[in-house]
Amino acid sequence: MTKKKMLEEFAKVYGDSEGVRVFFAPGRVNLIGEHTDYNGGHVFPCAIPLGTYAAIRKREDSKIRFFSLNYEQNGIIESRINNLKYNKNDKWTNYPKGVIDQIKKLGVAFSSGFDMLVYGDLPSSSGLSSSASIEVLTCFSMIKLYGIKMGKIKTAKLCQKAENEFCGVNCGIMDQFAIAMGKKHHAIYLDTASLEYEYVPIKLDGVKLVITCSNKKRGLGSSKYNERRAECEAALEMLKESEECKDIKTLGDLDFETFERNKDFIKEEVNYRRARHAVTENIRTIQAVEALNNNEIEKFGQLMIQSHLSLRDDYEVTGLELDTLFDAQSKQEGVIGTRMTGAGFGGCLVSLVKDENVDAFIENVSKEYTKKTGIEASFYALDVGGGPRELR
Ligand code: GLA
Repeated sequence: MTKKKMLEEFAKVYGDSEGVRVFFAPGRVNLIGEHTDYNGGHVFPCAIPLGTYAAIRKREDSKIRFFSLNYEQNGIIESRINNLKYNKNDKWTNYPKGVIDQIKKLGVAFSSGFDMLVYGDLPSSSGLSSSASIEVLTCFSMIKLYGIKMGKIKTAKLCQKAENEFCGVNCGIMDQFAIAMGKKHHAIYLDTASLEYEYVPIKLDGVKLVITCSNKKRGLGSSKYNERRAECEAALEMLKESEECKDIKTLGDLDFETFERNKDFIKEEVNYRRARHAVTENIRTIQAVEALNNNEIEKFGQLMIQSHLSLRDDYEVTGLELDTLFDAQSKQEGVIGTRMTGAGFGGCLVSLVKDENVDAFIENVSKEYTKKTGIEASFYALDVGGGPRELR
């Protein structure tokens, strides 16, 4: 999407495009470290070149008006900056409204409302964080438009809070952090317990990052996401009854041996498996980043495969579509690693595939998937993108 096109579309909807500014925020793909961010573990996501664009201009009055090129049939959705409430009928605009609500809670007084036109090229509900993308985009636009002082980490935390409190999804910090902090050609190795992070260069010589979208929609709010989170919390509480674990704060504090020694404290088998995933996935993530730093890409790929299996068997968030794709992909030539990415229950897989095998990979996987599920998958071979920015 270009700035020119965004301005043209803005003018069509709102009359003219005088003084309009255009901003972009990426989506993200998580390379490894799934369902660890609300368990105090490590994650390893990166920003991608797909994302969300906003053309925006202040108004004189207190109205805030939203229009999405992806949902033109909804027309203009209107609210007032001094009256922000979650309303199901306001659809996707609840994300930006939630962010503005949080900014106001910091004591920022908005002098006026604005008109905003949005376009996204991320497939929605696909596990590539279209919602965090629009949240960070809104926060970034507000910072620029109203001269608000706020750093990137604060932006990430505020957007997570907006999603938790305004939209009722108990998500962790990973998505908003990966998007607000995105850096070209780098993934972010983040310890979600301390928010300490490190940029790790992604140099994929002769290897492509391929995202496969199952086109099975995932609704995070209505999904079992909050349930998984509660199961992990229950397991943690039970583990804390043991002498050895009484001081741990999160499942991310545990090594595998300590966890196994104390597993009998977790009463329900299902909670034990959820916690086992959280513990082993955190360890895999630490090992995967080590492998990448040592240029051991094959080892990184093996850890991706193990991650998927654990998400399938212990965490049970994959489902028919993602598993069908995983099975088809893992047997293709040139596949170094592959796994589901994001919350699961539909959405995408992320794979590392040797350059010369990418075409055959797409062709074979596509055929097998459609034959087994009747759904057509979409494929994206992507670079690692940068963070939020203004289009000049
Ligand atoms: C969603 C949430 C994240 C994270 C992932 C699973 O994307 O928004 O916080 O929990 O699921 O790793």
